Amino acid sequence: MRRKLVVGNWKMHGSPGRNRDLLEAIKPALQSLEGRVEIAVCPSFPHLADTRAILAGSRIGLGAQNLFSFGEGAMTGEVSASMLADAGVGLVIVGHSERRGRLGETDAQTADKFAAARKAGLVPILCVGETRPERDAGETAAVVLRQLDAVIDNQGIAALDKAVLAYEPVWAIGSGDPATPEQAQAVHALLRGRLKQRSGKIADEIRILYGGSVNAANAGELFAQPDIDGGLVGGASLQAREFIAICASAGS
Ligand code: PGA
Repeated sequence: MRRKLVVGNWKMHGSPGRNRDLLEAIKPALQSLEGRVEIAVCPSFPHLADTRAILAGSRIGLGAQNLFSFGEGAMTGEVSASMLADAGVGLVIVGHSERRGRLGETDAQTADKFAAARKAGLVPILCVGETRPERDAGETAAVVLRQLDAVIDNQGIAALDKAVLAYEPVWAIGSGDPATPEQAQAVHALLRGRLKQRSGKIADEIRILYGGSVNAANAGELFAQPDIDGGLVGGASLQAREFIAICASAGS
């Protein structure tokens, strides 16, 4: 039985004061869900330490939104996996479509980041998803399987053990137009099927999150799908009431 996981991706939002207000609001409310659903938030790098301090004593996990694949060295402006681990980070998002699409990150770079995260003991959340033109052209399966295979071919199937996958259709992110539960379920089942060809155990155990305009109103129906194991939540994770309700739907 896979325990559901809800991860708040704060993106490039937040300030010390706003983060504190948000965390102080969600922390007590989410306490009653402990044991039923796993929850984490991913602030931007400068806010990791403060967030960690505020979360102390709670079971809400700390995630990061990105990392670089080098161990240590001359790479101005980048942050390594071991630096994140030292900062108390447990999870890290890799291959988010905003990095693939707007910053040009390739499948190969994503696979290297995934490997670096694992090596440092972090849980990578590998994001895959098609754009609107790709969906319209009937290329959804080819795109998401290519993005998944890039990691499996580079790292081997065992690298997916205890990792997390996130299906995030690019057209659904920040648009207010989520995939329908049926559309999402179909892609989640496809991804799990691909893993199953290599390892039944990993396919059964891996959490596949849905991301893209998840909110309090649609989370319940999405999370009720058999292959949807929680959510990667952007905009709605910045609003305490929305995020609490989304987490509650995952824990019910
Ligand atoms: P959204 O973002 O919930 O604001 O659509 C999700 C994401 O990009 O992870």
